[in-house]
Amino acid sequence: MARATLDPPKIVPVPPTKRTTKDFIFGKVIGEGSFSTVYLTKDIHTSKEYAIKVCDKRHIIREKKTEYVKRERDVLNTITSAGVPFFVKLYCTFQDTDSLYFVLSYAKNGELLQYIKQVGAFDIESTRFYAGEILLALEHLHRLHIIHRDLKPENILLDEKMHILITDFGSAKIVVNHEQQQKVEGDSEVTTVVQRRNSFVGTAQYVSPELLTDKVAHYSSDLWALGCIIYQMISGLPPFRARNEYIIFQKILKLDYEFPEDFDADAQDLVQKLLVVNNSERLGAQDKENYHSIRSHPMFAGLDFATLSETTPPVIS
Ligand code: ADE
Repeated sequence: MARATLDPPKIVPVPPTKRTTKDFIFGKVIGEGSFSTVYLTKDIHTSKEYAIKVCDKRHIIREKKTEYVKRERDVLNTITSAGVPFFVKLYCTFQDTDSLYFVLSYAKNGELLQYIKQVGAFDIESTRFYAGEILLALEHLHRLHIIHRDLKPENILLDEKMHILITDFGSAKIVVNHEQQQKVEGDSEVTTVVQRRNSFVGTAQYVSPELLTDKVAHYSSDLWALGCIIYQMISGLPPFRARNEYIIFQKILKLDYEFPEDFDADAQDLVQKLLVVNNSERLGAQDKENYHSIRSHPMFAGLDFATLSETTPPVIS
């Protein structure tokens, strides 16, 4: 009698099961948005800490913000898959009846803004280091065809080693038609994105003139914000300040700002080359690949961009 042959064991791929709130211990609130709350949490299986952003579905639908939430998820997925440093990562998402959950990197040292407020103003070495990290982050982001559009010291978080983790991509723009928008003879800009239907304007103090006049975001709109942030790290306050947004916008359009007398000369030169009303004339706006013209500015003399993410940051003072 023939011996029965055993079928080889079947390998059935098991899809990773979706996480639920039960997989985490929820701790204190570490951030709040208009339709979301961010909690410090701990994964019960690994004891690893995460920031979980909880978004209220009903509120999002009522306020017609579903596009923004999807955009944020897509951008975070793109950045996370690319494996680039200087950004919060999206580990997973899940949902229940009421909420959407984004499991993000936890930035242990909070917002860059808190440090600016604490010390009043950064020393030049810390300013050089953090401006350098923000510049590298923007190189990665723009290479992935993403414009942040709301870059500000509240959205620049610090991890346990004091390196930056940029967050909040709810206002980000994914540049879809970048091939057609490649620089052509006579064109002043490498890449532009036009979406006039979208009336989004970022935070008043950091918003670029082109967003105010044309409602058009360029990659160089993020470079304008970088100029504002460098100014703020050195002087303690953003360059365009007023008692209401309308006056801030007027000042931005007129380039109405001043440098304190003791402002570092190289930093002042760089800020003046970034805060240029015509976005295509900003330092870096014509660069391809890296922002080499910004990297080579005297403000960054001696900074090794290649090893920045592994370098121990200077102590802010
Ligand atoms: N606040 C908002 N998001 C955060 C994060 N990922 N880490 C720490 N604090 C935050």
